[in-house]
Amino acid sequence: MARIVAGIGTSHVPAIGAAIDHGKTADPYWRPLFEGVAPAREWLAAIAPDIAIVIYNDHASRFALDVTPTFALGMAETFAPHDEGYGPRAVPVCEGNPEFAWHLAESLILKDGFDLAMVSEMTVDHGLTVPLSLLFGQPTRWPCQVIPLCVNVIQYPQPTAQRCHQLGQALRRAIDSYAPDAKVAVFGTGGMSHQLQGERAGLINPDYDRMWLDRMETDPGSLAVIGHAELLREAGSEGLEIIMWLIMRGALDEAVRRVHRFYHVPASNTAYGLLALENA
Ligand code: DHB
Ligand code: FE
Repeated sequence: MARIVAGIGTSHVPAIGAAIDHGKTADPYWRPLFEGVAPAREWLAAIAPDIAIVIYNDHASRFALDVTPTFALGMAETFAPHDEGYGPRAVPVCEGNPEFAWHLAESLILKDGFDLAMVSEMTVDHGLTVPLSLLFGQPTRWPCQVIPLCVNVIQYPQPTAQRCHQLGQALRRAIDSYAPDAKVAVFGTGGMSHQLQGERAGLINPDYDRMWLDRMETDPGSLAVIGHAELLREAGSEGLEIIMWLIMRGALDEAVRRVHRFYHVPASNTAYGLLALENA
């Protein structure tokens, strides 16, 4: 039977990917960040998950304003890194798991009423590749299969935090009902506070981020009821990405054990946050 062995929340800042790709992880600017992530990387390597379900957002790469799925599941055999304007990152192509993805789609749509889009051709941008690089380093092949679950956090109207949390709970039921043996890691990516545009560009709100990290662990239900207006005000326009962490959290037990927590400002224009959780 499939079972969840890890829940990971992490930011996906593209400059982190560039730092890895260009050998700058030991530079004074980046070293504290990579040292802070290392314990989670070691923990995950010891667990050796078979499959990672990576909840992420696309940044007008694979999807643009011509088609904006609220939730889109990657059904393909492979997912190549997207060329975001400077050539695709030199990271491995993700190997998918269509059989598991179809099971997830069936369970989410037929049993739980989440009418998500199924995507059989999909490149993945920094939203997905940077979290993999952070947690898996620079292997020639990713150490597990990857199923992308893409969320619209870019174009109004985005899904609510509550809907994301509920999707995570439904995802849990879908994973639990998959018969083959598989260790599944669930990644919730994006955030933390940041705003890349407008008068408040550069906004970072450490108090708010720390509150999120606290409650992600102990009281995710209280985060799920937060509305977009509060998130935009407190975490910034791009900080809204943080709602994707609630999908990961919804897939875990109510009671979790925190394996690692790390918070660092700044990482490019954002606050970097990491939370590594296990079912208690
Ligand atoms: C930055 C952060 C993001 O989440 C993103 O998608 C793009 C850029 C930044 O900090 O520069
Ligand atoms: Fe982003």
